[in-house]
Parts: sequence; C-alpha cells; structure tokens
Amino acid sequence: MEERRAHWGSSLGFVLAATGSAIGLGNLWKFPFITWENQGGAFVLVYLACIASVGLPIMMAEILIGRKAQRSVVGALREAVGPGWAVVGWWGVLCGFILLSYYTVIAGWSLFYFTQTLEWSLSGFPGGLATGDLFAEQVSNGRLQLGLSLLFSVATILVVYLGIHRGIERLTRTVLPILFVILLLLLFSALRMEGSGEAIAFIFRPSFGELEPQGVLEALGHSFFTLSLGMGAMITYGSYVSRTQSIVKMSAVIVLLDTVIALVATVIMFSVIFSVAGMEEQVGASTVGMLFISLPELFFTEVPFGTWLGPLFYVLVALAALTSTISLLEVVASYFIDQHGITRHKSTLISGSTVFVFTILAALSFGAVPGLSGFEIFAGKPGWFSTADHFVSNWMLPTGGLAITIGVGWFMSREATKGELVDGNEPGWFRYGVWRFFIRFVAPAAVGAVIVAVLFFGFDFS
Ligand code: PHE
Repeated sequence: MEERRAHWGSSLGFVLAATGSAIGLGNLWKFPFITWENQGGAFVLVYLACIASVGLPIMMAEILIGRKAQRSVVGALREAVGPGWAVVGWWGVLCGFILLSYYTVIAGWSLFYFTQTLEWSLSGFPGGLATGDLFAEQVSNGRLQLGLSLLFSVATILVVYLGIHRGIERLTRTVLPILFVILLLLLFSALRMEGSGEAIAFIFRPSFGELEPQGVLEALGHSFFTLSLGMGAMITYGSYVSRTQSIVKMSAVIVLLDTVIALVATVIMFSVIFSVAGMEEQVGASTVGMLFISLPELFFTEVPFGTWLGPLFYVLVALAALTSTISLLEVVASYFIDQHGITRHKSTLISGSTVFVFTILAALSFGAVPGLSGFEIFAGKPGWFSTADHFVSNWMLPTGGLAITIGVGWFMSREATKGELVDGNEPGWFRYGVWRFFIRFVAPAAVGAVIVAVLFFGFDFS
C-alpha cells in the first residue's frame, strides 16, 4: 500500500497545497472583522503570539503524524499515536464534513459578487443601489443559493477526483501565484488611498487598554481555524509528504504565508474603510458584512482602479476558498480510500455528494426556508448555518486540537517525534527541545483555556 501512495511532486508542491488550505475565508473574511471588533493593535499582536506559540508547533505536529504514518487522519493517528486515537481521527473527519458543508455556502457568495461586480464594471455601478439590500436579497434567494453552492461543490469535487498530482497540486500551483499577484495589486491600490496611514496604525499600533480578555481567546481560536488545524487537514496533506522533505522549514513557510496574507488583506480593507467618511460607523454596525456589503460598492466609488480590481478581488476570494474546500473534502474522501479500500473516484463522488446534501440545508438557512433559518440551539445563533459554524469553531476544532497536542506531546515517544523533525545529521536538538516544550505544555494549556472559556464562560468564537 505504501509504495502506491501518491506523494507531492516537491516541497514547493506541498507548501503551496497546505498554504492554499490555510488561506481562505478565515484570512479574507473572518480575520479582518475580528480585528475590527477587537480594536486592532493589541489584538493583532496577541494573535501573532498565538500563531507562533500554538499554531506553528501544532502545524509541525500534524504534518509529522501524517508523514510518519503515510495514512489519512484516522489511520495516521492510530498508527503514529496509538489504537484508541482513531477516535480523534473520526472526530476530524466529521468536522471536515460539517465545515465543508457550510463553508461552501459563503464560498458561493464570492461567485455571486464576482458576476455582480463584473457586470458593474461593464455597465456601470447602478446609482442608488443599496448593497445591504442586495446582500439580503441574494442570501435569502433559495434557488440562487442552491445554484451557487452546487457550482462550488462541483468544482471542489472535480479537483479532489483528479487526485493529489493532477488535481490538488496542479490547482494550487496555478492558483496561489495568481492569488499573490491579485493581492499585491490590491495592496498597491489601497496604499494610495488617504486612509492607509490610519489603517496601518490601527492594525499595528498596540494599545493594550482596549483588548478584552475575550479578545485573547478569540485570537487563539482563530489561529486554529486559519491554519486549518485541529481536524486533520494537515495530517492528511502531511501523509503525502515524502521522507526527504523537511517538516520544520515547510511548516514555518506555511504559517508565515498565511499570516502575511491575513495582514495584507486587513490592510487593504481598512485602508478603504478609513478613506471614506462615515464608513467606520457603517462597518461597525455590520462588521461581518464588510466583505460583501461595504466593499462591493466602495470598489466602484472609492478605490483607484476599483472597476477592475473589484471583480478580481472576488475571484481571489473564490480561489482562496476553493483551495480550502478541496483540503476539507480530501480529509473525508481519503478516509474512505485508506480505511475502506474504496477507489478515489468513487470515494470522492460519494463523499462530495453526501456533503452537498448538508450544504443544501446551510444554503437555505439565510431566510429562504424559515424552518431552517429561525431555530436556535445556541443562543444568538439562529439557523442551520450559524449552528453548524458555532459547533465547529467553538467545540470541534479546539477539542480536536487539544487531543492532537496531547497525543503527540505525551503519547508519542521522543525518538518517534525527533526522527520526523530532525533531519539526517543536522544538529537540531535545540530547536527540537523548544518544539517539544511548546507541544507538551504551552499549546495544551492555551487550548485548554479556550475550551474552559467556552464551557464555563459561554464564550463564542464563531
Ligand atoms: N483555513 C481555512 C481558512 O482560513 C479554513 C479551513 C479550516 C480549511 C480547516 C481546512 C480545514 O479559511
């Protein structure tokens, strides 16, 4: 079985695939609005600390489990950590399943805004259009939502169906450079705007008086989501890494790229917002809508070259989301391939279409079907979509992450983990010691704090 397993063509191939998984709606949609809500500066600094002290060590841990076992998440945990740990793997597969089912809906919105902005580029922005109303209309239009989600699901299924080389690696190799170029163009344009100085100060000048304790926990929770940790995506991608590639260096590059992209996206959005009088209050009222309510109009009224950058921006969002959804589907599909001996084609089609059944529920839960939109299991999170997101972000990722740190830190031997992290005769003992300290003590304590916060203080990350 091991000989037949596909491997990434090169370290770069893996780094781009994993970075593609990490960069997604978390960077372009979620990070900017939580930074806004938490008043920037101090929050960003704390977030960077979380990424370095928790995110990076867990990223290395997940990749090493996958590479060592050369199996997808369930088999990998069973083989690398111990038989009982398969449960954590199943938890991850379930998490991938649910996360994919609703993530696809937001990804679908980017397709809608791409076509809208393209139309405005060609025929002009309709004067008097209220983008808030447009948003409300599109999310509650059941047919439109189903169509958009279906389109996005088909694209995701197609890439995973084609496999590691011809599908995932080829797509991410093509898409990520495009994504970086689009982002750079947007950054240049944003930096020409008068609000850019204020935006940069807001993001990078810490003032600790303004950070609430809950902001610290939010930063930690988000570092899992944005790095695709806690549910086995990196274990699964890591299982296609061959033994000659260095986990430490590759992890550092993935984490760095994800972080830089989140910050660049935030600089872009805030430069636009700070350049428009009155926009701060408007955004404050609906931070979640920043990406789909405030920005579409601003591209056409404020941003230099916005007429062309607008549609390009939504292409960027769609591509970033696609390189994430494929990693989610790969977690589920590869589980059936590895553990149940089903072919990739069959497994991808079956898991992809089963997930889509649940995507339908999420897609219709923004007003299209009242029964799906109104019910409330978690207070203040009405509807299928919010319920699922709340469950995944607050429960599944932190508990999965905690289990993984404990498994790697306390249940794998020093020799086993060292063999994966220290390559050949490189004198890596110091670096290894630091990692081991973080994975055994710092990361579990921090993640444990998140779980306690959720359990006992009713805290909410979604
Ligand atoms: N990291 C992705 C993002 O930031 C989301 C994701 C989470 C993807 C978990 C895969 C696994 O949007």
